[in-house]
Amino acid sequence: MADLSTTYLGLNLKNPLIAASSPLTATLDNLKRCEDAGLGAIVLKSIFEEQIEAIGEDTASGSDAYSAHTDGYEFLRESSKERHIDAYLALVEGAKASLEIPVIASINCRSNGKWIEYAKRFVAVGADAIELNHYVVATDVEVEGSEIEKEYLSLVKHARKALDLPLSLKMGPAFSSLANMLRRFDELNIDGVVLFNRFYNPDINIDRMKMVPAHMLSSKDEYTLSMRWTALMSQQVRYDICASTGIWDGKTVIKQLLAGAKSVQLCSVLLKQGLSTVFKIESEIRQWMESNSYESLDQFRGSLSQEHADPMTWERVQYMKSILDADAGKE
Ligand SMILES: Cc1cc2nc3c(=O)[nH]c(=O)nc-3n(C[C@H](O)[C@H](O)[C@H](O)COP(=O)(O)O)c2cc1C
Repeated sequence: MADLSTTYLGLNLKNPLIAASSPLTATLDNLKRCEDAGLGAIVLKSIFEEQIEAIGEDTASGSDAYSAHTDGYEFLRESSKERHIDAYLALVEGAKASLEIPVIASINCRSNGKWIEYAKRFVAVGADAIELNHYVVATDVEVEGSEIEKEYLSLVKHARKALDLPLSLKMGPAFSSLANMLRRFDELNIDGVVLFNRFYNPDINIDRMKMVPAHMLSSKDEYTLSMRWTALMSQQVRYDICASTGIWDGKTVIKQLLAGAKSVQLCSVLLKQGLSTVFKIESEIRQWMESNSYESLDQFRGSLSQEHADPMTWERVQYMKSILDADAGKE
């Protein structure tokens, strides 16, 4: 039988299918269901540094008895923050005690915040790796792109220095020179990068004249941006690339592996179709490997990355008439 095992961030995975950070990975019961369904690893729902800080402030400022006393205010703020962190620590600890697959803790962090201290505690209770979830919506017209880039680099640098365990960054694609950023993360010795996170977007309901959330779940054709950048970068960086967004079936997982991904993350497909879909995805990959006489993922991984395929195809962005004529209707 085809062997689907892989390594990711130096961890051994029985297959490259990882449950992405989402409500599905927020409780121990769900995590057990993820393992039973056959996933190769899980990324816990992110703990948000911003939320920890806000919980502390809300609790303390809502209490008249304490807010008049600086010491009391501090006490209340810190203890409610601690309770929030303790709940996450319990999730990491519980997951490690009951699961055999690797458990990756996820922190949504600001650049030089207190999150490093939290991360160290997640490591202490056994997390196998840390995924940093960072995104800056650059809305300030005074802030230059180079400042945002510095912020990302500073974040990774601090994390690398402080955390002696596998470390990955889950990021979005919005950089003016994405290739350069991805190379610079490599210079900081990160173990992996997740390409790409898919963010919450607001939409407008014109009947209710209100802001509403845009589509929360991805669609099946959203994988191509991630695949392109995986193909462009997988041979140019030493770290592992984990492909994410729009991966809904085995065929797309195979494409991401051909582009050079070490693993993939699944979220929308699991939320929409349920965990039984993991078995179907796995079977589809096995069948394709067997019909192409591949016994392991390494035999074909990266074989259509930029270095091994037509390099221009991965870089081309403009629709030229000749391409349309030649390729119309073809897969
Ligand atoms: C309801 C929901 C909650 C999510 N929460 C997180 C989160 O806490 N941290 C994170 O890094 N990504 C989070 N994500 C993003 C997913 O992990 C994933 O990267 C994204 O949905 C793209 O993958 P997909 O196309 O398979 O859905 C969330 C996505 C959804 C739909």
